[in-house]
Amino acid sequence: MRINSPKLNIMYKACMKASKSLIRDFGEIENLQVSTKGPGDFVSSADKRTEKIIIDELLKAYPDYGILSEEVGEINEKNKNNRWIIDPIDGTSNFLNGIPQFAISIGYEENQEIKNGLIYDPIKNELFFAESGNGAFLNNSRIRVSKKKKLNQSLIGTGGPRSNSKIKNQIYLEFLEISKNVEIPLRKFGSASLDLASVASGRFDGFWQRELSYWDIAAGIIIIKEAGGFIDFFDNDVNETKKRNLIASNSLIHKELLDLIKKKNIEKN
Ligand code: IPD
Ligand code: CA
Ligand code: CA
Repeated sequence: MRINSPKLNIMYKACMKASKSLIRDFGEIENLQVSTKGPGDFVSSADKRTEKIIIDELLKAYPDYGILSEEVGEINEKNKNNRWIIDPIDGTSNFLNGIPQFAISIGYEENQEIKNGLIYDPIKNELFFAESGNGAFLNNSRIRVSKKKKLNQSLIGTGGPRSNSKIKNQIYLEFLEISKNVEIPLRKFGSASLDLASVASGRFDGFWQRELSYWDIAAGIIIIKEAGGFIDFFDNDVNETKKRNLIASNSLIHKELLDLIKKKNIEKN
C-alpha cells in the first residue's frame, strides 16, 4: 500500500489476516456444494470466523473504539466518535454458491463521518482503499471515476430487492425504468461493496440500490468520494437514523439517474 496511514495500515493488517481463512473457507465450498447438507451452516461459521479475526485485530490496536459489524452488532457502543464499520463477507449468496464475487469491507468513522475505507476482493486480490483527502487506490494505483456523460451510454449496476422487502414491486419497476434508458443491460453482481468499488474505479458509471445496510456501503462512501465520484441518498425514511437508499455515480450522469428513479409514476406503485 502506498498510503502511510496508521488507520489504513491496521485495517489492512486485519483484512489480510482474515482473508487467509476466508480463501481457505471458499475452497471448501465446492466440496460442500455437492454434499447433501449443503454449505449453509459452513458459510455462516465462515462469516463469524472472518468477523472475529478482523475485530480481534482492530481491538488489539484500538481497544476503546466502537464497532458496528454485521454479525455481532455493536461493541464499545458508548464510543460514537471513533468507530469501525465492518461487513466480514459482502456477497454471501455468491460465496455460498461458489461464485468468486465477494469482499471484506471495513470503514472507519470519526465523529459520524467516514474517514477511511477498505474493500478487499480476496479472490481477485484487489484491494480498494481511501483516506479522506488522500485519493482512492486499487492496489498501488490511483483510481478515478469514469468520464461518461450520458446515461444511455453508461454501465449501471444495482442490487436487491431483499427477500423480506415490502417494496419489491417498486424496486422491479425502477429496474425496468432504468433498463429502458440504457443501451448496455444493467449489471447485478451481488456484492454492494464491490459495486461501489466498481464505480470508484470507473468500471461502472453508476450504481443505485434501495434498502442497503450501513456496513454494505460505509467503506465505499469514502472510496467513491476520493475517486471523484458522487454519493447521494434518496427517499429516506424519516424514522431511520441511517440512510439506506443510495445512488453512486461518476457525478456526470447523476442527475439523469436520480430523475429516473424519482419519477412519480414509479413511486406510486
Ligand atoms: C448483500 C450484498 C448484496 C446486496 C444486499 C446485501 P451480504 O450483503 O451486498 O449485493 O444486494 O442488499 O445485503 O448479505 O452479502 O453481506
Ligand atoms: Ca453486506
Ligand atoms: Ca455480510
